Amino acid sequence: MSLPFFYWMVIIGVELLEASMLDISASVDLENVLHITDERYLSVTMGPTVIRHNWGNFNTSSAKIQALAKGLAPAFFRIGGNEADILIFNRTTGVVNDIDKDWAQYSSSDDTDWYDEDLDYDTSFTESKDSWTNFTMTARQWDQLNTFTKTVGWNLLFDLNVLLRKGQEWDSSNALELMAYSIRQNYTQNLNFELGNEPNAFQHSINYTLAPVQLGKDFLQLHYLLKQSSSFSRFFSHSLLVGPDTTRPTSDHAKVIDYLRKYYMNGRQAKAADFVNPEILDLFPQQAARVKAVIKEVGLEYKPLMLGETGSCWGGGAPHLSNRYAGGFLWLDKLGIAARMGHSVVMRQTFYEGNYGLIGTDLFPSPDYWLSLLYKILVGTRVLHVATDDKSGRVRVYAHCTALSRSHYPKGSVTVYVLNLHTSPMQLTLNSVLSSKMKHVYWFTPHSHKGFSSEYVDINGKKMELLDDVIFPKVMPKITTDVKITLPQTSFGFIVIPEADAPVCL
Ligand SMILES: *[C@@H]1O[C@H](CO)[C@@H](O)[C@H](O)[C@H]1NC(C)=O
Ligand SMILES: *[C@@H]1O[C@H](CO)[C@@H](O)[C@H](O)[C@H]1NC(C)=O
Ligand SMILES: *[C@@H]1O[C@H](CO)[C@@H](O)[C@H](O)[C@H]1NC(C)=O
Ligand SMILES: *[C@@H]1O[C@H](CO)[C@@H](O)[C@H](O)[C@H]1NC(C)=O
Ligand SMILES: *[C@@H]1O[C@H](CO)[C@@H](O)[C@H](O)[C@H]1NC(C)=O
Repeated sequence: MSLPFFYWMVIIGVELLEASMLDISASVDLENVLHITDERYLSVTMGPTVIRHNWGNFNTSSAKIQALAKGLAPAFFRIGGNEADILIFNRTTGVVNDIDKDWAQYSSSDDTDWYDEDLDYDTSFTESKDSWTNFTMTARQWDQLNTFTKTVGWNLLFDLNVLLRKGQEWDSSNALELMAYSIRQNYTQNLNFELGNEPNAFQHSINYTLAPVQLGKDFLQLHYLLKQSSSFSRFFSHSLLVGPDTTRPTSDHAKVIDYLRKYYMNGRQAKAADFVNPEILDLFPQQAARVKAVIKEVGLEYKPLMLGETGSCWGGGAPHLSNRYAGGFLWLDKLGIAARMGHSVVMRQTFYEGNYGLIGTDLFPSPDYWLSLLYKILVGTRVLHVATDDKSGRVRVYAHCTALSRSHYPKGSVTVYVLNLHTSPMQLTLNSVLSSKMKHVYWFTPHSHKGFSSEYVDINGKKMELLDDVIFPKVMPKITTDVKITLPQTSFGFIVIPEADAPVCL
């Protein structure tokens, strides 16, 4: 026995501490609103690659896809990604792309060694230079996209091709054609635009430099078309112009920013433990703070801040983790932090496809789909401040006024959402006005012994799955008046306090 006695004391002490449940208290400010998010706060994206492959399994008239999408309405549906800048709209051609050829390359890309850890742009499709060839979006595909978006109650945010150039300037003629066609089809009221995908990464990806000043001019040109031109502006008065989309919003070239982009970690290397590592979760607020500082510097604080293209990992997501139970930690924490830090919209990359898709190519809703659904139903736009006595960063607590319309909770209700990253259960006590009141708990645990990599999630012990293509499982809260709420080990969930009577939520 070579260890000195006091070492044993320390080790045993820690174990005892872990074994008995620790108490955490959280105090929700019921008097002040920190920030009000957009109704479409939780929004989703899809890559134009799905259009390139003429939808794959994403049949826009499928009742199942529509039902899953409606569950998340209202939301923005951002169509953007690398392939936005090689998409050309063609109203006259009926010819879709050579799908077989594209598909072979595309579907094999997951197995090939396309992944390059030095790349700091979106690697959601194969990175070979061949993939940077233009492809056509037909009028029929545009019709399908618009009809789908409108049917499910979403708003389209379409990323226009900024690599169509005329000399130094953006060549807007293809965008004009798309707009004219959209006016004729009456799509304009549901249509918002972006210009270019991560233009600051062009240098790296295709050896093309689009200077920020020029990009600014290109945005002004688009702004003029949508908002001032006599022929278009009256049709696009509702349309938002979002941008510029940028991967690296500050001049801080610290390695951590490169590494992060808007994602937390590198998909191929992510380990299960990273998903519950508070240091990794805390990287996002550090970066968001830098973005806010820049926005303040340029005097645009009044503009809504959108967080586009966000997933748990870049490089297509971490196989067997991002689309499993583990993905929920990063996703829920990001939703909490981004709201607290004043974002209006957070767009989940992606709704369909990829390791981080809310639904997979097999149309199977991932645990994050159910988490997003509950978030939509229970979490309202008014963000509240929460103070906790947790020093470890491992119990993370957020609160909003409850969303009322779908939940049917009364005015004044408060929704608290909590992550317990500890490998042991914890006990949470809310501030005194809330602690004694009735609580409706919706707790997410892995369905199977697979734990983190479980493809099914339980809410209050009930497995979440569609009952048929369009019928959702009924989710019942666990009702308790206990002052201390037990948070199971490494898990997360929502607590609604229907009788909170919070002044700011009335
Ligand atoms: C798409 O779904 C619709 C409605 O279920 C069906 O009629 C149509 O055949 C499907 N299209 C394809 C290509 O599977
Ligand atoms: C659209 O397709 C037609 C027929 O394939 C072709 O003649 C025309 O040049 C295309 N237009 C654009 C803008 O690519
Ligand atoms: C795509 O088409 C545009 C317009 O024809 C052209 O300027 C551009 O070089 C093409 N891009 C690629 C990658 O082929
Ligand atoms: C055009 O669309 C809007 C909503 O998007 C709808 O209210 C209006 O009735 C439509 N107009 C026509 C002529 O279909
Ligand atoms: C990038 O483009 C420049 C000119 O536009 C050229 O001189 C240079 O060789 C290119 N670099 C690569 C790696 O292709």
